[in-house]
Amino acid sequence: MDFLPDEIQQYLNKHTSEPHELLKDLERETYAKILIPRMIAGHYQGRLLSMISKMIKPKQVLEVGTYTGYSALCFAEGLLDNGYVHTIDVNEELEPFVSKFISKSENKEKIKRYIGKASDIIPTLNEAWDIVFLDADKINYLNYYKLVFDAVKPGGYILADNVLWSGKVIDENEISNDADTKALNEFNKFIQEDNRVENVLLSVRDGIMIVRKL
Ligand SMILES: C[S@@+](CC[C@H](N)C(=O)[O-])C[C@H]1O[C@@H](n2cnc3c(N)ncnc32)[C@H](O)[C@@H]1O
Repeated sequence: MDFLPDEIQQYLNKHTSEPHELLKDLERETYAKILIPRMIAGHYQGRLLSMISKMIKPKQVLEVGTYTGYSALCFAEGLLDNGYVHTIDVNEELEPFVSKFISKSENKEKIKRYIGKASDIIPTLNEAWDIVFLDADKINYLNYYKLVFDAVKPGGYILADNVLWSGKVIDENEISNDADTKALNEFNKFIQEDNRVENVLLSVRDGIMIVRKL
């Protein structure tokens, strides 16, 4: 969901750096071959994630929700030389598609992939996170936040995508009747009241909550 008029979004895209050719191919092929392609981060949001990663220069990034690998490749652009992106997805059918693209990346050795439910895999990862990106099942965002929190470094970041949920989070009817909207609204409220962090909710695309652990 984009909240901005098409013309403004086009202007933003036009004045945002182009991604690498590999990412352009990945976005094109995702739209041609994979179900629900609008889930991909894509050009504009992808450049934002890449820029954030380059600003933070992380050693360890955890991504919950690989999909076709677009955002993982964007985060990998900002890693320190000895850094890794660990990315989890439950959908094993995406595996060959994701492998094909990641294997062509100069950062292929820096991306570690895990297939399975995030709630099973997160507790098995023994890392201290500089960035965690939540972009999987919305109903579990708060569970994932609680699960990863202690392993986020002080001064580290948790980013959560789609927290405006097409604007439904301000609709009381949706909050009462739609489980994802209710969960995202509770997530946003929890973050806002969590005195262990500072946070800003960006209205980029479908809303990105940026949380910094104090
Ligand atoms: C919005 S897409 C991720 C998009 C990707 N981060 C990007 O920007 O290109 C969400 C992904 O989360 C995965 N997913 C959903 N529930 C999950 C779960 N319980 N554990 C792990 N992955 C899950 C889905 O299979 C899907 O590929």
